[in-house]
Amino acid sequence: MAEIVINNLRYRYPETTRLALNGITCQIHQGEFIGVIGRNGAGKSTFSQALLGLVPNFYHGAYGGSVTIDGVNVKESSVDELCQKVGLVFQNPFNQITGSKLTVYEEIAFGLENFGVPSDEMHRRIDNAMELLDISELKNRVPYDLSGGQMQRMALAGIIVMEPEVIVMDEPTSQLDPQGSEEVFRAVRALKNQGKTIIMIEHKIEKIAAYSDCVMLLDDGKLVAMDTPKVIFSRDDLAKHGVCAPTYTQICRELNIRDRDGLFPVTLEETRALLDADMKERVSR
Ligand SMILES: Nc1ncnc2c1ncn2[C@@H]1O[C@H](COP(=O)(O)OP(=O)(O)OP(=O)(O)O)[C@@H](O)[C@H]1O
Ligand SMILES: [Mg+2]
Repeated sequence: MAEIVINNLRYRYPETTRLALNGITCQIHQGEFIGVIGRNGAGKSTFSQALLGLVPNFYHGAYGGSVTIDGVNVKESSVDELCQKVGLVFQNPFNQITGSKLTVYEEIAFGLENFGVPSDEMHRRIDNAMELLDISELKNRVPYDLSGGQMQRMALAGIIVMEPEVIVMDEPTSQLDPQGSEEVFRAVRALKNQGKTIIMIEHKIEKIAAYSDCVMLLDDGKLVAMDTPKVIFSRDDLAKHGVCAPTYTQICRELNIRDRDGLFPVTLEETRALLDADMKERVSR
């Protein structure tokens, strides 16, 4: 059970004076999809590095507080130990792939080979990952010839064959066109359905609204709020934190269409359900 407990996490990069993370305290439960949002420079990427122990073990600097995953303090863990628990997917899949493998299959196998996983087990994991991410038919293709969406799913497969319980993604679709983005989001949903914990940093607010169980809003290194997408995107002070609400939320705010709790819908489906209910109520009056 990957329970992530973050307690008063503070961090300052070397030779800087400002805290990039300033007192973040929260808990993330197994199987949750956490969307992390906030303006440029809010501390989102630094936060993701802290989950992997890269901050402070790789970046150094001043560090305070703690991050524990399954009770293991990431600051005190080795990279080998951590990468079996947490996988990181980069913004640009080009940075994730080895560049030395001739086929997609070999590329996905790379991490496992380094861990000495027996051959049968390796093939089983790779086949499962490719099927889950819908890239089985690409297995003999050259990695660099793939589309952006295919390449990002290949990179994701290379992570999930390590069977981490937690997958951290830092803007995994920012380099992709709408189709490629959709492919990646569908793949991530399939991973969530398998019980993986997903922590995704993303500026595409509509996607975050549709996919997240819980949204973390960061600003100036601080956790402003952590709650359901509806609660977060119904806040009056989003603009102050450099974030926009999804279009549906903005329209409903304009028209004052709220649910029973006084919150605005965040997706098309929620908006439609609320309008349908409203219409039925008017007709029955
Ligand atoms: N390697 C570094 N050395 C020094 N300061 C850094 C370094 N990386 C980030 N920072 C600073 O730390 C703060 C948080 O940066 P971070 O990259 O975590 O923000 P972010 O929310 O990911 O932004 P973006 O949306 O632009 O990716 C910023 O003030 C940034 O300038
Ligand atoms: Mg970033």
